[in-house]
Amino acid sequence: MTDATYNSETTSALLYLNGISVSFDGFRALNELSFVIEPGEMRAIIGPNGAGKTTMMDVITGKTRPDTGDVFFEQGKYDLSTLDETEIATLGIGRKFQKPTVFEMHTVEDNLQLALKNDRGVKATLFWKSSPEQEARIDEVLETVRLKALRHRVAGSLSHGQKQWLEIAMLLAQDPKLLLVDEPVAGMTDVETMQTAELLREINRTKSVVVVEHDMAFVRELGVKVTCLHEGSVLAEGSIDQVSANDRVVEVYLGR
Ligand SMILES: Nc1ncnc2c1ncn2[C@@H]1O[C@H](COP(=O)(O)OP(=O)(O)OP(=O)(O)O)[C@@H](O)[C@H]1O
Ligand SMILES: [Mg+2]
Repeated sequence: MTDATYNSETTSALLYLNGISVSFDGFRALNELSFVIEPGEMRAIIGPNGAGKTTMMDVITGKTRPDTGDVFFEQGKYDLSTLDETEIATLGIGRKFQKPTVFEMHTVEDNLQLALKNDRGVKATLFWKSSPEQEARIDEVLETVRLKALRHRVAGSLSHGQKQWLEIAMLLAQDPKLLLVDEPVAGMTDVETMQTAELLREINRTKSVVVVEHDMAFVRELGVKVTCLHEGSVLAEGSIDQVSANDRVVEVYLGR
């Protein structure tokens, strides 16, 4: 642990990034990045291309090890910067990447069964009969993401937006405490974008969420605290109105 300054905010935090730096060949993608996510919170992260948003998620999930700093999870109980990707996933952190990675040849239901049993390998899972509890879980997540009617459809035939929702459902099937979602509405129609905001708000009733997005109408619709990253650090934090009125945010991001 580095010189973490503990106060009531950081000790009650679900997630506390403390002075995270990451360099790639001498380029600082994250520069002493610190912020706190409270239990039950949904946070929107914005910022220009290359600001370090995806790298921040890579650090939280153990894909990238920080050069300096700590990542405390669950009131400081765990330091994620010392754990590997599997251990971090097991603690209840689920991540959705930018591009949908559903199994196109399989049905919506099969994709969810794979998510429930992803430690068994694809083949074993497809021939394995699911339990009533798992069926109930699949029903529940399909209901949440509004794909119940498409349960037996082949995932490859879904719209781009529906594939993104299926992938969110696959994350939910594993019942994470914290969901990290990278640019979920990129390529979606306006209607799908607003439906996704509603979906994430619903998910946030029971789970904490960190969502990276460039779509400001979507971020506004979420109605949550916003953090703007720039050059690997926090440039501004607050309500959407506060952050959008910040001169530096306008200069480096919104005024593009
Ligand atoms: N594995 C890597 N190797 C080298 N450089 C990298 C690597 N990953 C990220 N970078 C660099 O780090 C910087 C931050 O990238 P990152 O992907 O985190 O930005 P971002 O905020 O997610 O941007 P965008 O909005 O475009 O998705 C960029 O300059 C990027 O080129
Ligand atoms: Mg990114």
